[in-house]
Amino acid sequence: MLEQIKQTADFLKSKIPSQPEIGIILGTGLGNLVTQITDKTEIPYNTIPNFPVSTVEGHSGKLIAGKLGGVDVLAMQGRFHYYEGYDMKQVTFPVRVMKAIGIETLLVSNASGGVNPGFEIGDLMIITDHINHFPEHPLRGKNYNELGTRFPDMSEAYSKDLIARAKKIAAKNNIKVVEGVYVGTSGPTFETPAEYVYFRKIGGDAVGMSTVPEVIVANHAGIRCFGISIITDLGVPGKIIEVSHEEVQQTGNSVQPLMTQIMKELTVEIFKSKE
Ligand code: HPA
Repeated sequence: MLEQIKQTADFLKSKIPSQPEIGIILGTGLGNLVTQITDKTEIPYNTIPNFPVSTVEGHSGKLIAGKLGGVDVLAMQGRFHYYEGYDMKQVTFPVRVMKAIGIETLLVSNASGGVNPGFEIGDLMIITDHINHFPEHPLRGKNYNELGTRFPDMSEAYSKDLIARAKKIAAKNNIKVVEGVYVGTSGPTFETPAEYVYFRKIGGDAVGMSTVPEVIVANHAGIRCFGISIITDLGVPGKIIEVSHEEVQQTGNSVQPLMTQIMKELTVEIFKSKE
């Protein structure tokens, strides 16, 4: 694995003209942010050595290096989901590569079903914490000390500092945000009504099929994380209706520009706070 990470990182470094320190992973159909990236270098996943190839509809599957708000970023348009059949090492491989390239901060987005009765469809939820409900753990197996410690701390899986900054940015722009715990589960089924109730009871505010593996591996690698989830449907008793992938994408589309705005200003702030 170490050899593969190095090989892929070396390949990407040779293609990317800059040294990005901020990585971005965009969820299902959430490619709007890419329209704000300038000076783009696009690298399709299927040309990257050791990268799995994304299959799900709504994912164009490429890495994009460029500038967001003038700041160098490395964005993944489309991610690798566990439900597609990849194992957790494959799902999280790009995060390992990001670390090897020099990424220090990871911004992630996804679509999810809200189980908090106070949420509305189209809400942007700043992820304050997560519950790992996947059947496989990305760090199970041999630990490479070069990559991180055997028993990583997860007490601040999502950076409190970045959450506070994002909330200020949202308030300044009059963008409504909610906050909550994201439960990551394998899918590909959406939840039964009983499962939505269960995810609420165990402490979740929203449930989705991604993000948790990448954030675990990022924390293992010492990368700080920030995440936003777009609430595309509600798993709240009395409000549960049939959900489809298309509807999830449509809702995602309509509020994406607001999320993009937050991510963009946050990127600029992260950069400035390092100067
Ligand atoms: N459940 C799981 N994943 C999802 C949902 C949901 O209701 N909505 C969007 N992704």
